[in-house]
Amino acid sequence: MASAKTLWYCTNCGNESPKWMGRCPACGEWNTMVEAPVEKKSASSGSKGLSAKAGDGRRPVRLKEIDRSKEPRMSLGMQEVDRLLGGGIVPGSLVLVGGEPGIGKSTLSLQIPLASGISTLYVTGEESERQVKMRADRLGGNVGDQTLIFTETRIESIIEQAEAIKPQLMIVASVQTMFTDTVESTPGSVSQIKEVAAMLLRFAKTSGVPVILIGHITKDGYIAGPKILEHIVDVVLQFEGENRGSYRILRSIKNRFGSTSEIAVFEMTGAGLREVANPSEMLIPMHEAGLSGAAICATLDGTRPLLFEVQALVSSAVYGTAQRSATGFDIRRLNMLLAVLEKRAGFHLSAKDVFLNMAGGLKVSDPAADLAVIAAVLSSNFDYSLPGDSCFAGEIGLSGEIRPVAQTDRRIAEAARLGFKKIYVSSFTPSAGKVPEGIKIVKVADVPALVKALFSKA
Ligand code: TYD
Ligand code: MG
Repeated sequence: MASAKTLWYCTNCGNESPKWMGRCPACGEWNTMVEAPVEKKSASSGSKGLSAKAGDGRRPVRLKEIDRSKEPRMSLGMQEVDRLLGGGIVPGSLVLVGGEPGIGKSTLSLQIPLASGISTLYVTGEESERQVKMRADRLGGNVGDQTLIFTETRIESIIEQAEAIKPQLMIVASVQTMFTDTVESTPGSVSQIKEVAAMLLRFAKTSGVPVILIGHITKDGYIAGPKILEHIVDVVLQFEGENRGSYRILRSIKNRFGSTSEIAVFEMTGAGLREVANPSEMLIPMHEAGLSGAAICATLDGTRPLLFEVQALVSSAVYGTAQRSATGFDIRRLNMLLAVLEKRAGFHLSAKDVFLNMAGGLKVSDPAADLAVIAAVLSSNFDYSLPGDSCFAGEIGLSGEIRPVAQTDRRIAEAARLGFKKIYVSSFTPSAGKVPEGIKIVKVADVPALVKALFSKA
């Protein structure tokens, strides 16, 4: 008997290989190659295109004749989600919502039909009908007759039902539980995930029904069989957040119909996710003024200004070697900033423990946070509190210079809106036309100048 033909897939990036390898040549990860049978013939014919069968009468069109005003978008009943998608969901699009277990993917996807009232086919391979009903009751909202629940994992049956029902929206939870007859491997394997997603995409494109697909993410941040899905789908939204906190951030990492690196903030409450329209206000400290080691940072997440508190604790090292720890901030960047303080401003922090924390469980990658980090570290070091009505936005260079950051005027505008009186920025910031009322812009050139501006009275 001839043995079945198999291929090796990387579970991290989806790279295919005819033989086993210890290290995936595409993504460089070790021990990620798994064996999977080659898909049957019938499957490959499907993977080829969306709907363009030869001879279906479609022709190329002139670019200028394409009318964008006709691009219909459908509201999902949740303002923040609509905004993240670029103004509602596009018909025929496939949207992947990823996130770690327990973060709120099922909650969000059930809230959508309840909030919008659009006719929805909610397919779940994870929960029973009664479980979904229990959740819906908890979420409140009007449980009308527009939502149909279908507990099924065979993708062929799902698409058959969807074609018969013709809902306005289909939600599938989750891609890892679905399987197709055309692939022999078990649900959740790379080849199953790939083919299931491709079939849902084909359904979406041919029927015009938008599909929201839920995908679990492993602890290190990959949607299982991750990159494979990212290039198949139109939009990737990813849920982030510390499990202990109640805030959740939904981030758009890919969007064929809108901008990426936008975020929406939610709060998990007893009755589902609540949209937080003004994230800055939620992230501003709740403690009394006058604590040392805290500085407010004016960052930008996507195009959205976000103000939040950076907390630092500097203390004499108890053990021989000083500890450095950072939550929500790159530890190497922290070490670099401490080295700059040591070398360029003469602060001897090498014998001190330094702990850094970004409030609200945020992960910050905006270089504009540097200035607030330095201010918080110095404030804790001197045990001298910073005025609560000041905030910071600037990047620190290796020679201790403070560099301007992108879109400073938006950060200033947000700070002014929230009632801040002073914002510290680089003196190399090009002057923006009109300064919003009530806020003073303090320009600083380098770290010594910042120290002087903040602590000269101390
Ligand atoms: P869930 O949406 O099931 O997460 P996922 O589908 O991403 O695995 O969210 C589960 C968590 O949310 C669970 O810990 C319970 C909590 N939760 C609330 O706090 N309030 C609610 O109204 C609901 C429905 C869930
Ligand atoms: Mg779930």
